[in-house]
Amino acid sequence: GNRNNRKIRNRSNAASHISHINAVKVDQSLVSEDDEDFVLPSKEFVAQANIQSQQQYLEMYKRSIEDPSGFWSDIASEFYWKQKWGDKVYDENLDIRKGKIKIEWFKGGITNMSYNCLDRNIEAGLGDKVAIYWEGNEPGLDGSLTYSQLRDKVCQVANYLKDNGVKKGDTVIIYMPMLMELPITMLACARIGAIHSVVFAGFSAEALAQRIVDCKPKVVISCNAVKRGSKSINLKNIVDAAINDSAQNGVSVGVSLVYENPVALKREDTKWKEGQDIWWQDVIPSYSTNCPVEWVDAEDPLFILYTSGSTGKPKGVVHTTGGYMVYTATTFKYAFDYKPSDIYWCTADCGWITGHSYITYGPMLNGASVLVYEGTPNYPDAGRCWDIVDKYKVTIFYTAPTLVRSLMRDGDEYVTRYSRKSLRVLGSVGEPINPSAWRWFYDVVGDSKCPISDTWWQTESGGFMITPLPGSWPQKPGSATFPFFGVQTAIVDEKGVELEGECNGYLCVKSSWPGAFRTLYGDHERYETTYFKPFANYYFSGDGCKRDKDGYHWLTGRVDDVINVSGHRIGTAEVESALVSHPKCAEAAVVGVEHEVKGQGIYAFVTLVDGVPYSQELRKELILTVRQQIGAFAAPDKIHWAPSLPKTRSGKIIRRVLRKIASKQVDELGDTSTLADPTVINQLIELADS
Ligand code: WTA
Repeated sequence: GNRNNRKIRNRSNAASHISHINAVKVDQSLVSEDDEDFVLPSKEFVAQANIQSQQQYLEMYKRSIEDPSGFWSDIASEFYWKQKWGDKVYDENLDIRKGKIKIEWFKGGITNMSYNCLDRNIEAGLGDKVAIYWEGNEPGLDGSLTYSQLRDKVCQVANYLKDNGVKKGDTVIIYMPMLMELPITMLACARIGAIHSVVFAGFSAEALAQRIVDCKPKVVISCNAVKRGSKSINLKNIVDAAINDSAQNGVSVGVSLVYENPVALKREDTKWKEGQDIWWQDVIPSYSTNCPVEWVDAEDPLFILYTSGSTGKPKGVVHTTGGYMVYTATTFKYAFDYKPSDIYWCTADCGWITGHSYITYGPMLNGASVLVYEGTPNYPDAGRCWDIVDKYKVTIFYTAPTLVRSLMRDGDEYVTRYSRKSLRVLGSVGEPINPSAWRWFYDVVGDSKCPISDTWWQTESGGFMITPLPGSWPQKPGSATFPFFGVQTAIVDEKGVELEGECNGYLCVKSSWPGAFRTLYGDHERYETTYFKPFANYYFSGDGCKRDKDGYHWLTGRVDDVINVSGHRIGTAEVESALVSHPKCAEAAVVGVEHEVKGQGIYAFVTLVDGVPYSQELRKELILTVRQQIGAFAAPDKIHWAPSLPKTRSGKIIRRVLRKIASKQVDELGDTSTLADPTVINQLIELADS
């Protein structure tokens, strides 16, 4: 690509701290070719940007912090409220010492998410605008729905659910691949005030059952099968096994609605259970395309999304309606410099938070045209993404660093063979993006003209927390830059003392933001202890973060026992508990190791039951056990036989040492004097390649 990046000169002049926000004012007129740190947006981009300077951001940011009520209620007023919220725009307590943790936004306000995504836009004249472009796994298979058509489909599903006794506050589990029916079903639940819980269709039957047992859905909505790449995956068998499993654990599912996807599996080849299973196509089309919305309170739950934490059981992150709506819409608009003419594509799956906030809700609240892609990004070859970009004239492309790295490895030819001239903004999410991947994404994919929004956020945060605003300030490859409006980040030391200026510590947030999660489903105490106890009066993210001399934020990865594999968040404890469920496995300790493409790989130290010899056969069995209990994406990359594990005298596994052994940094084991048996280490090092 042509490297026409202009760079900042004389940073000391350019930077002046504004202490209450720890952001820096970068004077964009001081540019030079020789400062490698910065990448500046072009003049043309800046001229059309929603936020055109850091000054403009700072003014808005300042107001968002000093007057959150005014700032957010102005934005909220752009949405439809059947009834306005009460006296307080927000109410919060983030200090566990003062009592229950509480976050509320727009309480008393009566609204509906589906109405705001669909009806409001249709009334504003967007009825004939394409809401969803759908691209199938097989090139050539595609479809689209306008906002009006989408509302019709949503209403039919909503009416079906109502007819089957689903009421406001009931839960519905959705286990579907990336068909249009997935966002349709999410919006249908929202329309009637039902709480959806989407389970990523790569999760195993056991993982699905665990979620069914936890949230007790009235209905499970799935699809019989899906094709991903050249593989066909039978989802119906997984759903059946999960429903059986749940029944044995005392939770029975009344209705299992199944979408027939004949490209992947025909009806007659699908296992069927009369009285429980219903084909989508047999019932949905007969329902009315009119469904009045169920008005809900801003603080009524919109969805539960399970995510991994540092202890075994997945956490049901609860998001409510009003704040989440305002926040996802606003972050989408600014972080991607959204314009009504954009064609937006996010490669995530609706089974993860990214698909909730930035495929379904955020974009549709803005009346955007969203591309939904069913398949894998490198099928039939590594050029598929750019083929799709050219086909739909995609303008905003949002993906994960793992995909960038894997495409980078396949070579530039797959990219440069396509025009990609429609692209104007790129995005990255899921893990820190390494500077070399950033550069490749910027130079090769974006032809050195598209700003990259490296968005740092979490399932818990609902929307972007730290992100560039394209065109507003110079970027540094690998830095998520500055906090979004209303987000007061704090980097603290291990005692919880906030660090100033250039620093490295634990990333916290000092006050609530509208998109914040409100609780963990059925376990408010776990919510408080996990997120608000580690550092008093702060929300603790679980991530490490550095701030450089210019005030830019650099995420350094998880500091707890959560690992990030290809942007999938996996708790080491979950993998460990799957491994030890195997009768021949006595103990397991899982750590993340650096992985060239996936970001992190899963490295499992396994101690076998006395007398059991290790073998290739057993290695395969153990990996299979993890696939069955969690899903293929959580399969360990490496099993390291461990006759015993490094432990303290009190029996606590010393993971720090395991991480060093796993990453072959055996010279840097650090202090091993606390080990109960120091000979364990050499034994492990010797077995590294067995
Ligand atoms: C990591 C995904 C660095 C981080 C939206 C966080 C990131 C976890 C970034 C949340 C980023 C996400 N830079 N790290 N831009 N985005 N992360 O809940 O460790 O699946 O805590 O949400 O992903 O993962 P989750």
